[in-house]
Amino acid sequence: MTAHPTLANAAACVFDAYGTLFDVARLAEPCRAQLGDKTDTLARLWREKQLQYTWLRSLMGTHTDFWHVTGEALDYALAAIKVDDPRLRSMLMQLYLEPPLYEDAAGLLKAIKAKGLRTAILSNGSTTMLAGAVNGHNLRGVLDLVLSVDDAQVFKPHPSVYKLATDRLGVTADRILFVSGNGWDAHAGRHAGFRVAWVNRTGLPRETLPASPDFEIKSLSELSSLLGF
Ligand code: LAC
Repeated sequence: MTAHPTLANAAACVFDAYGTLFDVARLAEPCRAQLGDKTDTLARLWREKQLQYTWLRSLMGTHTDFWHVTGEALDYALAAIKVDDPRLRSMLMQLYLEPPLYEDAAGLLKAIKAKGLRTAILSNGSTTMLAGAVNGHNLRGVLDLVLSVDDAQVFKPHPSVYKLATDRLGVTADRILFVSGNGWDAHAGRHAGFRVAWVNRTGLPRETLPASPDFEIKSLSELSSLLGF
């Protein structure tokens, strides 16, 4: 099979981490016994606040690492569902150090490398968090680079974050296929000049932001036909 014409020149595949390779929607599952019917609300609020705080801190010029922001978001979410349990808080935070991997992720990364493309993660995650997630799932061998916003000191969607990928990979943005399960991140990646595939697993409407992604797919496995294998 040949790659989609838009991707014929692709040199690297760069993945967002949380919500793309790692399934943060399922993250709180191990604590369902303690959280009961509040589990889904907690999971949703935690993620929403986590992202909001990254955007707000970037605008406020008060950057801190993603571990800290994730903790602050969790404190808000636990307060909102009226749970005050330091042991549970600590358990939930630990889960972020080894989040579940989407089942199609490891095989896909391996196949992309076998095809001769370079692979990378580009994430808001701190270097320590990303190391936990990558090592916990034995992904080191299928990733050439793990890039954290720690090196930009600002969160996505600031353009300097996406520039980390072109700088470190040493290729122009149009030779990078950026893959994200987060719609806003997909638009920002396209705005930065990448070719972009948005993994829209839950059938959400398109974001009404500048720079639409080139491709919309339902799962990571659909990337293989786009890339021609
Ligand atoms: C990341 C966020 C968007 O991994 O979840 O960068």
